[in-house]
Amino acid sequence: MNARALVGVRILATGSSVPEGRLTNADFEKMLDTSDEWIVQRTGIRERRVLDLTKASGLTLAREALQNAIDAANIPASEIDLVICATVTGDMTCPSTAARIASDVGAAGAAAFDVGAACSGFVYAINLADSIVRAGRAKTVAVVGVDAMTSIIDYADRTCSILFGDAAGAVVLRADENPALGCIYQHMGADGTGWGSLYIPRQARDIPPSDIENKTRLGCLRMNGKEVFKFAVTKFREVIEDALAKTQLTPDQVSQFVCHQSNIRIIDAARERIGLDPSQVYVNIDKYGNSSAGSVPLCLDQLWRAGKITPGKPFVLVAFGGGLTWASSVWQTP
Ligand code: COA
Repeated sequence: MNARALVGVRILATGSSVPEGRLTNADFEKMLDTSDEWIVQRTGIRERRVLDLTKASGLTLAREALQNAIDAANIPASEIDLVICATVTGDMTCPSTAARIASDVGAAGAAAFDVGAACSGFVYAINLADSIVRAGRAKTVAVVGVDAMTSIIDYADRTCSILFGDAAGAVVLRADENPALGCIYQHMGADGTGWGSLYIPRQARDIPPSDIENKTRLGCLRMNGKEVFKFAVTKFREVIEDALAKTQLTPDQVSQFVCHQSNIRIIDAARERIGLDPSQVYVNIDKYGNSSAGSVPLCLDQLWRAGKITPGKPFVLVAFGGGLTWASSVWQTP
C-alpha cells in the first residue's frame, strides 16, 4: 500500500449485478391487501429484483458486480490493494463480505472490510476509499455496495415489503497523477436519536416500547414510513444544497445527481425544491425498488455504461438511510 501522497483519484470502471427474479406489483396483489395503483402512486415502484435465497445471497451479487467492474477496468485483480463493501445484509457478521469477495475475484491479500451505514453505505464507502487513496495508503481500491433486502423482509408487512429489492454495484478506483480528479467534496452524517424509525432487531430486547405492538418477525426490517419520509424529504434537499454550496457549483454544472432510490416522491420533492432538471436526476426505482446500499452504485453503473456521466463535469452521489444516516460525494471526472 504505497502510493504518492496528494494524488487524485480516477474511477477506472463500474459494475453491477441484479438477480433474474422479478417481483411485480401484480404478484403483491396476490399476496397482500394492496394494489398496483397504491404502490405506483405512493412509491413509483412497479417491480423489484429478488434473489432465490435457497441458491444465492448478497455475496453472489457483490462478487458478480465487482467482477464486472474489474473486467471493465481491464486490470489484474491482484493489483487491488483494498476492498470496501457496504452492506447490512452480509451472509455472516464474520467474515466480512469484503474479505470473501476479495478472494473470490482474485484479490486475496488485499485489505478488506465492510461498512454498515444502511442505504448510505456505498456513499460512505466511496468517500472512505477516496480519502485513503489521497492519503497515499492505497493505490487501487474496489468499492462495492450490496444488499439482499429480501432476506430481511417480512412479507406479511405490506408497508415495508413492497419497497425493497436486491442489487449490487461496484467501482474500481485508482490513484491518479492529477490531484483535481476524484472526490472534490464529501459529507457524512448520522443521528442515532432516530434509529427506531428504521431498524432490524435481532432479539426482543432490541425493540423499543413504542414499537412493541409491531408484529414484524424478529430479524426483519421495521420501519416507521411516515417518520422516514419526513426525514428523507428534508435531508435529501439539505444534502444536495450543501454539496452545491460548498463546491460553488450551480446545478447546470453537474452532469448527474445519482440519488438513493427510496421513493419517487422523495426524489421528486428534492428535485423540484432545488430546481434540478429531470434529465440530471436518474431514476430506476420503477424497475428495482429500494436496494439499500446497492441502489446508488447500481444507478452509477447504469449511467456510466450508458455514457451519461459527462467527461469533465462533476457528478454528485447522495444517499440517506437507517441510523439515521446521510451522505454526499461530489466527483470530478477527467
Ligand atoms: N398497500 C395498500 N395500502 C397500504 C400499503 C400497501 N402496500 N401500505 C400501507 N398502506 C396503508 C396504510 O395502512 C394506511 O392505511 P390507514 O390510513 O387505513 O391506516 C394508508 O395506506 C396510508 O399509509 P401511510 O403510511 O400514510 O402511507 P404513505 O403515503 O406515508 O406511504 C410509504 C407509505 C411507506 C410508501 C411512505 O411513508 C414512504 O415511502 N416512507 C419512506 C420509506 C423509505 O424511504 N424507507 C427507506 C429509507 S432508506
